[in-house]
Amino acid sequence: MGERETGPSVPVLIDIEDKVAVITINRPNQLNALNMEVLERLHSALQESRLNASVRALVITGMGSRAFVAGADIAEMAGLDAAGASSFSAFGQSVFLAIERHPKPVIAAINGYALGGGCELAMSCDIRVAAENARIGQPEVGLGIIPGFGGTQRLARLAGKAVAMDMVLSGRAVGAEEALRLGLVSRVVPEGKALSEALALAHEICRKSPHAVTQAKKAVAEGLLGTLDDGLRLERELFSACFSHPDQEEGMKAFLEKRKAEF
Ligand code: COA
Repeated sequence: MGERETGPSVPVLIDIEDKVAVITINRPNQLNALNMEVLERLHSALQESRLNASVRALVITGMGSRAFVAGADIAEMAGLDAAGASSFSAFGQSVFLAIERHPKPVIAAINGYALGGGCELAMSCDIRVAAENARIGQPEVGLGIIPGFGGTQRLARLAGKAVAMDMVLSGRAVGAEEALRLGLVSRVVPEGKALSEALALAHEICRKSPHAVTQAKKAVAEGLLGTLDDGLRLERELFSACFSHPDQEEGMKAFLEKRKAEF
């Protein structure tokens, strides 16, 4: 891997340590708003962590204590026409799909505002850990637009139609505790602790079979897209595929030999 770009002017940082790639959106003065450059760099960081065999899990967070991501960059979007908006939406959607379909687990450490594209980014991750100061929502209708990076679809799938309609039509943001109650996040931690909690969870996942983790992510994520019968068929295929992978032999052998599995 080549020299890493670092410093305040690099809008997406990737830091790989101990099997976990931490991707940080680094525009704190704009509350980490997503412009095209950020989306492109985020896409590259996802590719890099897909190809790097030493990476077993990803954590995505925002720089600073105020925001995860406060949305798509409104200053950049203000100049778009309908065709430009369609391309912007298509590209954002493709980057977030690359997170959802990434073979490795991706955890969002929500350290403050996760609005608009920030909420959509978090929802494309597999697991969301929110700090107590998080504010999560889709405020787009207040700007005369609608969510364009998957928000109308993923929020309804994640929290149900009633919650999605309530939040998307009103633009109301919810706090961390309400987000937990609604099923938008699965953990709430004290302010300043989202990243450390996400890292601890990532490390816990890294101790498990990477092959099994990938199959499990696929079973849950792809299974939700079809009928129950389709999902059960997919689960059966992925379950059976585990039995022709060495991790299954090692995992079960280690249990029977009363030792820790080496994956
Ligand atoms: N796009 C571009 N710039 C943004 C931004 C966004 N989505 N969100 C925040 N910023 C910028 C602000 O313009 C401001 O820049 P400035 O210092 O050059 O004026 C800076 O980030 C700090 O934001 P500010 O609004 O001053 O902070 P605040 O504490 O008063 O309010 C928010 C915080 C998150 C409530 C407010 O910034 C906000 O509503 N942001 C937009 C949220 C949104 O609608 N997102 C969806 C976009 S589709």
